[in-house]
Amino acid sequence: MLLVRDLRKAYVEPDGTPLPILDIPAFHVDEAEQMVLMGHSGCGKTTLLHIIAGLSQPDSGEVQIDGYDITRLPEAGRDRFRADKIGYVFQTFNLLPGFSALENVLLGMTFCSGRADVGRAKDLLTRVGLGHRFTHKPNMLSVGEQQRVAVARALANRPRLLLADEPTANIDSRHQKIVVDLLRETCREERVALVLVTHADDVAEQFGRVERLEKINRAVAAA
Ligand SMILES: Nc1ncnc2c1ncn2[C@@H]1O[C@H](COP(=O)(O)OP(=O)(O)O)[C@@H](O)[C@H]1O
Ligand SMILES: [Mg+2]
Repeated sequence: MLLVRDLRKAYVEPDGTPLPILDIPAFHVDEAEQMVLMGHSGCGKTTLLHIIAGLSQPDSGEVQIDGYDITRLPEAGRDRFRADKIGYVFQTFNLLPGFSALENVLLGMTFCSGRADVGRAKDLLTRVGLGHRFTHKPNMLSVGEQQRVAVARALANRPRLLLADEPTANIDSRHQKIVVDLLRETCREERVALVLVTHADDVAEQFGRVERLEKINRAVAAA
């Protein structure tokens, strides 16, 4: 369902020299497949996830999701495509500060064509252990609780592909298990493909497929 081909991305250093970050000949994920992406800090994991989500553009290459090459869509089309098909757990959460936990999850639905489903939003929050925190705004929640809201929000719109960027980095081991179990169960039940970035070996070892970005990204090997 996800096919990345000949993907290249470089940033430009202040003196004008290009700094290659990604050079990936091929990477694919099947429908409903669950996989882990590992790799040392700075090897391009977040950059790759942003490009797959259409949040930033590669210099060249293809990113096909369900047969659409999202790099060829205009920006508004990419935004709509993301809202309809992709769930994203940001490394930095990106919750909206003026809205409660429940409203943040509901906003994850209203950006897409479906209607806001309060029952689903409450169910997802309850499943990440936040059934008692619906009305809290992000600044009243602990960092780990904010991360769990971000996980519930990413699942809210019934995505086809879920991209989770270190979704358990800030939470204790009990809630880490709750979050990973929720992601895996929901993705299995709803046939969502899952790409999960983590540094935690005990998370990675639960997955049948673990890729190291250094192995598929030639820009790192060259650096
Ligand atoms: N906007 C930017 N301009 C220049 N360099 C960047 C920018 N964003 C990220 N980088 C660099 O790209 C590399 C990959 O970053 P990132 O994808 O965030 O790595 P990871 O998520 O694997 O830790 C890092 O070395 C980072 O410093
Ligand atoms: Mg990162």
